[in-house]
Amino acid sequence: MLVQSAEFVKSSKLLRELPPMDYPEYAFVGRSNVGKSSLINRLCQRKNLAKTSGTPGKTQLINHFLINNTWYLVDLPGYGYAKVSKKIRENFTDMIFDYLVGRENLMNTYVLIDSRHKPQAIDLEFIEFLGVKEIPFTLVFTKIDKLTSHKLAANREVYEKELGDVWEELPQMLFTSAQTGEGREELLEQITSYNPLFYGT
Ligand code: GTP
Ligand code: MG
Repeated sequence: MLVQSAEFVKSSKLLRELPPMDYPEYAFVGRSNVGKSSLINRLCQRKNLAKTSGTPGKTQLINHFLINNTWYLVDLPGYGYAKVSKKIRENFTDMIFDYLVGRENLMNTYVLIDSRHKPQAIDLEFIEFLGVKEIPFTLVFTKIDKLTSHKLAANREVYEKELGDVWEELPQMLFTSAQTGEGREELLEQITSYNPLFYGT
């Protein structure tokens, strides 16, 4: 899959400001600082398309990018960022949930998980919410350049065990690094495999 064009469309603060649902859409969600914006940049091979930062809480709006004039990539604010007030945190989370539930052109949601850590309650809760609402998703483990393949395999096993206690079938999982580009092709292939469902071809 070649990314021939990637353009920023708009940032929306409110759901009613979102662009029309005229293309199939793929959302990146996950805790603050997990690497959502960096992975979007890597997918598009563009350094500064989505704004990244070492400080959590960088992305505070819903950002739409149009890829190959055919599909949207959506960079969402991170959930669970401790340094903003509880009220703002809840508003963000509500906005993310409402977006995920109501966005009819949303073909798949990519839940980014930092591959260095053990399963975190907030991620498991988020995944459970998706399950309850029957929102299709893929788990995308990020920053795999930061750990050995041995450690990655161990962390994966812990995750699978934890999810296996709750889910009959394990969700799809991808392993990525925005730094090295590992997992990029696979992620792109997966995303674009859903496009025909939208276009009915
Ligand atoms: P918010 O917008 O705050 O929710 O964060 P985000 O999830 O968009 O994270 P962002 O892409 O801004 O990345 C956060 C930090 O992690 C930055 O310092 C990135 O350089 C770093 N980072 C992201 N992905 C990777 C990766 O694959 N490998 C390494 N080594 N660092 C990464
Ligand atoms: Mg971001």
